[in-house]
Amino acid sequence: MRTYSTNVQLQSALRDFRQKGQTIAFVPTMGNLHEGHLDLVRKAQCLCDVVVVSIFVNPLQFGANEDLDAYPRTMAADKEKLFSEGVHVLYAPAVEEIYPEGMATQTQVQVPDLGDTLCGSSRPGHFDGVTTVVSKLFNIVQPDLAVFGEKDFQQLSIVRKMVKDLCMPIEIVGVATVRDEDGVAKSSRNGYLNPDQRAIAPVMHQTLNSCREAIACGFDNFLQLESHARMKLLQAGFEPDYFAIRDARTLQTVTAETEEIAILAAAGLGDTRLIDNVRLALNPVSDWGMLADG
Ligand code: PAF
Repeated sequence: MRTYSTNVQLQSALRDFRQKGQTIAFVPTMGNLHEGHLDLVRKAQCLCDVVVVSIFVNPLQFGANEDLDAYPRTMAADKEKLFSEGVHVLYAPAVEEIYPEGMATQTQVQVPDLGDTLCGSSRPGHFDGVTTVVSKLFNIVQPDLAVFGEKDFQQLSIVRKMVKDLCMPIEIVGVATVRDEDGVAKSSRNGYLNPDQRAIAPVMHQTLNSCREAIACGFDNFLQLESHARMKLLQAGFEPDYFAIRDARTLQTVTAETEEIAILAAAGLGDTRLIDNVRLALNPVSDWGMLADG
């Protein structure tokens, strides 16, 4: 595995691959890699000749009240994992490489509506930070495709919209959420949970699943389902931020045109913010249909 920390070095190495006609898949990460990230890498390996992984803890997507300094940095362990997976190229730039003129005057990429709802309303500016850094990384790496986890479903939807709206010639591939045996979605943040909080964590996925089952059985009072789910989370010890039943394409309210429903939740457990989602494809003939996990 070759590791680069500057754009010039990385781009010269990638030019060599391209000249040989090899296709490039890109997996952007913030490090602290777990099985969920490695699953993205494996998907990327199936789809392209060369896999580039980036590790960059992006300050632009952290709010003033979010502890950027406390974000786990585990570069040595991450490198070992990527090496074992057979990754070809690791790109690990410093903040100065990505934001050479600082962040205050950085041109920003913004996806309105999709970026303003759900996590976007609780974390103002977060998705602008994500889309800005992802655009920069896409321009630096110029991959044929890029792989993102469905666990961050809103992020995946926003990146897809950005790529479409800005005519970026990159295919975006979503990969199903990897879960622990008790259903908890793999996340770098799970490491912050103490044993008591970890024991409560599965309630989020259970609550999402119960809601999905109720909708699949024909229950269509979504406001009641949302408020019941928030109550269940609260009773378990979460501080719910949102529990929302939305159109999976627009992330807005479900309408007669909705083909797939996304049920999304975000809640605090102590100081840790957990998010998760499940989806339900609607059968156009019978209205209610097949179950799809997120
Ligand atoms: O999902 C993440 O880890 C980050 O938001 C990303 C896409 C690497 C951008 O910093």
